[in-house]
Amino acid sequence: MGAMNRPSDGLSPVVAVDRRLQTPLYQQLYSGYRSAILDGRLKPGQRLPSTRVVAQELQISRILAVLAFEQLVAEGYIVSRGSAGSYVSNELPDPPQPRGSHQRAAADRRPGPRRLPKSKLARIDAPWLGLRGPFRTNQPALDEFPAAIWARLVARHARRMSPRQMMYGDHLGLRSLRDALADHLATVRSVPCTSDQILIVAGSQQGLTIAAHALLAPGDAVWLEEPGYGGARDAFLLAGAHVVGVPVDRDGLDVAAGIRRAPNGRAVYVTPSHQYPLGVVMSAPRRLQLLEWARRRGAWVFEDDYDSEYRYDGQPLASLCGLDADARVIYVGTFSKVLFPALRVGYLVVPRDLVARLCRFREAVDVFPSTLHQAVLADFIEEGHFARHLRRMRVIYAERRNALKAALARELPSLRVMGEHTGMHLALMLPSGARDRGLAVRAAENGISVVPLSTCYSGRSKEAGLVLGYGSTHLNEIDGAVNKLKALVATQSGCTD
Ligand SMILES: Cc1ncc(COP(=O)(O)O)c(C=O)c1O
Repeated sequence: MGAMNRPSDGLSPVVAVDRRLQTPLYQQLYSGYRSAILDGRLKPGQRLPSTRVVAQELQISRILAVLAFEQLVAEGYIVSRGSAGSYVSNELPDPPQPRGSHQRAAADRRPGPRRLPKSKLARIDAPWLGLRGPFRTNQPALDEFPAAIWARLVARHARRMSPRQMMYGDHLGLRSLRDALADHLATVRSVPCTSDQILIVAGSQQGLTIAAHALLAPGDAVWLEEPGYGGARDAFLLAGAHVVGVPVDRDGLDVAAGIRRAPNGRAVYVTPSHQYPLGVVMSAPRRLQLLEWARRRGAWVFEDDYDSEYRYDGQPLASLCGLDADARVIYVGTFSKVLFPALRVGYLVVPRDLVARLCRFREAVDVFPSTLHQAVLADFIEEGHFARHLRRMRVIYAERRNALKAALARELPSLRVMGEHTGMHLALMLPSGARDRGLAVRAAENGISVVPLSTCYSGRSKEAGLVLGYGSTHLNEIDGAVNKLKALVATQSGCTD
């Protein structure tokens, strides 16, 4: 058994004795331990607490605990190894599965669970998501992450941890991290903010969930890009919002279509710097039109800026937030793409008058994320490692992007590529009616992980395509994987010339 899986030694299971019962106390104790062993709460080989500890915990005489343990030894449930203590016998058969009827009866009495949004559930099961192969969309180049530097900073902070750092702290998040972020965002993303407008959260998923709950009432209409990001959809559905798909064209979200479909919208979610999944950049006129609509309507604009640090062609893009003169934009950022997703650190930048309201909700969710990683991240940014990492990764991703673009142009010249100027993914468009889901399943069988574009739509009218991530795809994998894709696409008549 690996060290990680070892059962905890010497802990007491929940066993109660009741002095009012006729059954002798030592027998109650014996029965309690026997049940815990039989139903698997105590595992074979697990060390038991000593009879002294058991007696103390239950406030009974030690002799009663000794009697109970002797009976368990006599019946073969536990073995005594003298001064090394008593252990659950390794010879016991596996504990029976919990009895279904008992479980079900208990479950039936529970109130009906709230229904989880469907989109996320579907995405978890999708065959293309479980793979580590080429073109996985949400994965940065983890093998290029400066792990040694990170480990040094973690060790530094773990050694230095003061009682103050181990206590509850600021609900907005660690001040040093917010200061570092405010400077970074103002310079790199034109997000005008000070650190007291930043809330550190456990990734953008949590940021969206907190903001949606804080700012929307159940039933409020929210415009969502169509096609769009399932994670955002889930967050708004969870807050009870009524989500309305609004089409995206070459200029980004079609604001006029949004006004037609849901003039009463209370909020809109957009990825203006690199639309997920099509990758288009929202044009300046559309940005201004959206902000003007939000101003007139008194609506909130959720700007998800998840991967725009990596821009390969053209001018760097300013955020939508930077254009907002009416304090309407809630800016959502994440370290999942620029560092690694398991870090679970993201941030919200919110208009000043919303800080207290959002803080109140964040307090109800998780108070604040782990201080240790916030402190590590603050140093990582302040000491220049973050800027260096971004510069290095931009070069690596640009090479991968170029290689992918070239391979697609060579092997699948009739298929249009979209959204390749920024980020870590692009969209390969298929003729309408092509069965992209089937293609993605067959690609997954061949070890290639592509997201079918049609699964990013919530409404009926869908375009077909494949979303290809290149962040974690090595240069030497790209040509082979594109060739495989070409062969699969060719099996779908009408996909290529
Ligand atoms: C559009 C979009 N936003 C945000 C994220 C990151 O989410 P999180 O910060 O919760 O890891 C992703 C990840 O795939 C994404 O595609």
